[in-house]
Amino acid sequence: MDRLLELLVFLIPIYVANSSPVVLGGGAPLDFGIALPDGRRLLGNGKTFRGFVGGTLAGTVAGGIVAALYTLPFFPDAQAQFLGAFVLSFGTLFGDALGSFIKRRAGVDSGRPFVLDTIMFLIVALAAVFPLAQRSLYEPVNVLFFVALTLVLHPLTNMLANRAGLKNVPW
Ligand code: CTP
Ligand code: MG
Repeated sequence: MDRLLELLVFLIPIYVANSSPVVLGGGAPLDFGIALPDGRRLLGNGKTFRGFVGGTLAGTVAGGIVAALYTLPFFPDAQAQFLGAFVLSFGTLFGDALGSFIKRRAGVDSGRPFVLDTIMFLIVALAAVFPLAQRSLYEPVNVLFFVALTLVLHPLTNMLANRAGLKNVPW
């Protein structure tokens, strides 16, 4: 497989995990409605159990299908790649929630745009899969590609999701 294609295929579980909560999410918030002494919510209503679990499962299934079809050179074997699909997906949702935690502490309301929204999930997912991945995954040119593509795609897909009526706001 082409090298560029392998980088794109690697991102599938991360992108599926990050985008699916828009449709799968809703219901009880992850933080149970708890606020911190700063008067702001721990995470806010934008982070729900359904979104977290649904996103993690969707990303794992997507990455699992990828692993069944093709073993990427970023993993030592197919088994590591299967486990990696889960770790990347969980890391994505964890990073997303961590981003919201920081966002609330910075005084930015749920649904408002914030710099970490676009990239936090990717950084945490990449860090989470470190123990399972080959060192080659973290070659600067690869990381640069992941970051640059995500910085472009995240606002673009959010805008499209807004136009499609899936999201109330275009970011
Ligand atoms: N979502 C969810 N559970 C998650 C993540 C997302 O239910 N763990 C759903 C919510 O309906 C959320 C939507 O996906 O409103 C968009 O996600 P995101 O932009 O990450 O959340 P925001 O509402 O912008 O909240 P925050 O400011 O905390 O990021
Ligand atoms: Mg948002």
